[in-house]
Amino acid sequence: MATFTLPRNSTIGEGRTFKAPPGATRVKTFRIYRWDPDRGDNPRLDSYEVDLDSCGPMVLDALIKIKNEIDSTLTFRRSCREGICGSCAMNIDGLNTLACLKPIEDVKGDVRIYPLPHMPVIKDLVPDLRQAYAQYRSIEPWLKADTPPPPDEERRQSKEERARLDGLWECILCFCCSTSCPSYWWNGDRYLGPAVLMAAYRWIADSRDEYTGERLDALEDPFRLYRCHTIMNCTRTCPKGLNPAQAIAKIKQLMVERQG
Ligand code: SF4
Ligand code: SF4
Ligand code: FES
Repeated sequence: MATFTLPRNSTIGEGRTFKAPPGATRVKTFRIYRWDPDRGDNPRLDSYEVDLDSCGPMVLDALIKIKNEIDSTLTFRRSCREGICGSCAMNIDGLNTLACLKPIEDVKGDVRIYPLPHMPVIKDLVPDLRQAYAQYRSIEPWLKADTPPPPDEERRQSKEERARLDGLWECILCFCCSTSCPSYWWNGDRYLGPAVLMAAYRWIADSRDEYTGERLDALEDPFRLYRCHTIMNCTRTCPKGLNPAQAIAKIKQLMVERQG
């Protein structure tokens, strides 16, 4: 599959401009990153003037309107339209977020939209997430236990044990955090990044899981875990209000405790 990674310090050329229809009164311009592997030319920024009087309130509503009514070649991912699937993650107005949760009116001036940063691009706003998903698979994100469950019953947790998973299970794997993390930008091939490390901690913190030691062993590596330098971009950008930096800190703390 052809992908494109924007070289550092490169500029993106101006592309086409699609004017608003005559008579439009509330016009907003969306400046959107475009790159098509089949054309082979450099990325460009296309400008689309959208009449907000005939558009829904969120950035994703504008993208869908542009695709349906102005330029069907514009490519992006989306599914749920309510912040659950994580597929509409992109960089809007300089911040990684979910297009379906980002109100257009929150952006002053033109709305600049790019794919998630520092990921290869498959087309337009669609990043190549294969490496990120392979990293997710590597932490074995499922319950691991040798003890069989009680007959005719699920594995039980106390309310306190269950509460330890709050703030972790809500992650929708949008990768807004990992693609805002400078350590992940520079070492994404070996550093797991905040999204995957928080998923790892979700299973480490689960009282029903019996592989905590093995899970920690697998993270005991100069790159997989310890490339986190507590820069906190991840927590600042999470569109679900989660705190992956804290989850990473808790893994590091468990590493220290088991050595002590
Ligand atoms: S706290 Fe760690 S994971 Fe989060 S942005 Fe900083 S270095 Fe990356
Ligand atoms: S922690 Fe937040 S930003 Fe990171 S993948 Fe999960 S939901 Fe997305
Ligand atoms: S479309 Fe599902 S999170 Fe935005």
